[in-house]
Amino acid sequence: MKELVLFYSYSGNTKRAAEKFAQENNLDICEVADKKKKPNKFYAFVVGCFKSMKGSAVKIQPLTVKFEDYDIINIFAPIWASHIAPAMNGAIKLIPAGTKIKLFMVSAGGESAKDNISKRIEGLGLEIAGYENIIDTTGLKLKKNNKDKNI
Ligand SMILES: Cc1cc2nc3c(=O)[nH]c(=O)nc-3n(C[C@H](O)[C@H](O)[C@H](O)COP(=O)(O)O)c2cc1C
Repeated sequence: MKELVLFYSYSGNTKRAAEKFAQENNLDICEVADKKKKPNKFYAFVVGCFKSMKGSAVKIQPLTVKFEDYDIINIFAPIWASHIAPAMNGAIKLIPAGTKIKLFMVSAGGESAKDNISKRIEGLGLEIAGYENIIDTTGLKLKKNNKDKNI
């Protein structure tokens, strides 16, 4: 079974979790990046959250992998407004229907997001083979010290 780790991170927490998981399990890893620069905090909370709730995507940079090469895709993404951050939606919509995915959702405690997210993902014809909540608020708190940030 060939597995990929696919991640998007706004303030660094998801990146850290995804890189650790990929390293520990010796898996390929691919970052999803906003097509332009990361949205500023105001835009993220207003427009980004609205897009998350609608399940819409924002434009992303071309990916460096082909999803067809993998049996399982481990998706690491931050939760925004109880849904997946919209940049990751831009990547998810490129995953062929029928692909097995495992979700690792990073949040400040948004366990209630599981139903919303699962329904939407299954609606795209993807098979959810696992779901894990990861609670981490570090990135937002350590704004000045976090080099991953661009906000
Ligand atoms: C725009 C925005 C919306 C968020 N909405 C939620 C939410 O609905 N529930 C929650 O538990 N955390 C929410 N958070 C907190 C993040 O999910 C959490 O800090 C996560 O660890 C960030 O991951 P990152 O550092 O990879 O971007 C939100 C953060 C941002 C920036």
